[in-house]
Amino acid sequence: MDSADGEIGVWKSAPGKGRKTPKGRQVDDAALADVQALLGARPRRRDLLIEFLHLIQDRYGHLSLTHLSALAQELRLAQSEVYEVATFYAHFDVVKEGETPPPALTIRVCDSLSCELAGAESLKNALEAGLDSAEVRVVRAPCMGRCDTAPVLEIGHNHIDHATPEKVQAAIAADDTHPHIPDYQSFEAYRASGGYAELESLRIHGDWEAVQDKIEQSGLRGLGGAGFPSGRKWGFVRASEGPRYLAVNGDEGEPGTFKDRYYLERTPHLFLEGMLIAAWAVDADCCFIYMRDEYPVVLKILADEIAKMEAVGIVTPGYIDLRRGAGAYICGEESAMIESIEGKRGLPRHRPPYVAQVGIFGRPTLVHNVETLYWIARVCREGPEILSSVEKNGRIGLRSYSVSGRVAKPGVYLLPSGSTITDIIKAAGGMADGHQFKAYQPGGPSSGLLPARINDVPLDFDTLQPLGSFIGSAAVVVLSDADRVRDAALNMLRFFEDESCGQCTPCRTGCGKAVMLMQEDKWNQPLLDDLCDVMQDASICGLGQAAPNPIRLTMKHFPEEIS
Ligand SMILES: Cc1cc2nc3c(=O)[nH]c(=O)nc-3n(C[C@H](O)[C@H](O)[C@H](O)COP(=O)(O)O)c2cc1C
Ligand code: SF4
Ligand code: FES
Repeated sequence: MDSADGEIGVWKSAPGKGRKTPKGRQVDDAALADVQALLGARPRRRDLLIEFLHLIQDRYGHLSLTHLSALAQELRLAQSEVYEVATFYAHFDVVKEGETPPPALTIRVCDSLSCELAGAESLKNALEAGLDSAEVRVVRAPCMGRCDTAPVLEIGHNHIDHATPEKVQAAIAADDTHPHIPDYQSFEAYRASGGYAELESLRIHGDWEAVQDKIEQSGLRGLGGAGFPSGRKWGFVRASEGPRYLAVNGDEGEPGTFKDRYYLERTPHLFLEGMLIAAWAVDADCCFIYMRDEYPVVLKILADEIAKMEAVGIVTPGYIDLRRGAGAYICGEESAMIESIEGKRGLPRHRPPYVAQVGIFGRPTLVHNVETLYWIARVCREGPEILSSVEKNGRIGLRSYSVSGRVAKPGVYLLPSGSTITDIIKAAGGMADGHQFKAYQPGGPSSGLLPARINDVPLDFDTLQPLGSFIGSAAVVVLSDADRVRDAALNMLRFFEDESCGQCTPCRTGCGKAVMLMQEDKWNQPLLDDLCDVMQDASICGLGQAAPNPIRLTMKHFPEEIS
């Protein structure tokens, strides 16, 4: 059945002409050579799939199907598996046969709440009108963790604060598309100030339970949003047989939140020492740092500083595995983050089992937020009193509030955990000129919106639940008389609609349906109420469960805007 002219099939001698090729998409030799060259000597591990997709996207500006099938072959994965991962993440551009690849330069314009308040929509329109779409692509994007300098955009990997079309033109003309690294406390400076002495002494004669007690005495709770007592988690992880892992949640995707970036761009080693102390406490085999792709500066700082730590033997090479997210808010949910670390789509897992027992590769995993680890180092170095001695309005401890919107001086403010919105606005220099306080988002869009008259409640864990809200990551966005709360709520639901992983119907369909209903002049409140109940009761994870908060609180406190 062989044939030199290719007229007759070569693969089987069944009736008919047979096949000239095996079934399925064929791997292109040139694409395979490209992929092999890019991967070099890296181990062909499945969990590195997202890292490899980044290599191809960075080199070619997109992911062609020929490269995807070559990568699948190289990793011994099904092509469908590689495709589904590549299409899950916003920062990968999959280009099918016959489609035109995107232009070499992409501008992502943030359209989350603080940037929308600062004019993101007209900025995006002006850029689209003023730039050649064959040369530059302008796309919308969710919060980039720079809400204090809104409106913000990213051109290549260069973030432009207080962005204007003129600044963009200047950056393009100067080919300024790379991250700008700020001054920060280097390894050498941290070491000189006594850094890593605590870790070294614990590693020699430390008692992990004594350290756990110290953390519990400080009152430190998880600063990723859930507020679980930090020390107590260690015991759960430690209770399960090894090998164990530690995973750092550096996804910081909740719009309005930029505290993790604030600490990482200033004192990265406090966080790194805290991480290594926690890893020592649970006897972790290695640490994964899952850092969002929207923070290229942080990724560079961490890569450089970890290399220095490896060089002097504070960690063995590979003990810290720095992973780059790819543009998916849901990967901040800890089980979705673990899926992503394993090289998969970021679909939250059902619980139980909890990640403390069954986490990365099925092993017990300690997950901590970046800022939690920063405080673990400070509590170990300076004592639990650094947090436990601060009291205000009956609440104990300190909180890093990310403050943006209509205040005079947006930024991160470290204040007592018992601070009210009045204290926070005061710390941020008061309201911006000409603006009167009307409403606020206390802790990210998941926390909804509260009216200005609720101004005496401490913005802390457990204090906002009776109001139908919660403090989450303490991302405070202040609205004024210039804003409509219903527009802010719509912005939040649009965000959830975009970022829903799509795994469960109440969230996938519910967010989209809510966005439709919220665009009506007069809201259909009974229908929205029903929808909110279903989303809250039947969604798998916190995204779908909390997405109704902005809707409910707008109906409750701002009925005049929607009826
Ligand atoms: C939808 C969703 C998004 C989340 N995003 C983040 C995030 O970006 N960063 C983070 O640290 N925690 C985030 N969390 C909380 C994590 O699931 C987890 O509680 C946290 O990382 C645990 O660390 P901690 O105890 O130090 O706070 C998110 C949770 C949900 C439900
Ligand atoms: S609630 Fe939304 S984000 Fe969470 S698992 Fe369901 S679809 Fe995915
Ligand atoms: S950077 Fe735009 S809202 Fe956060």
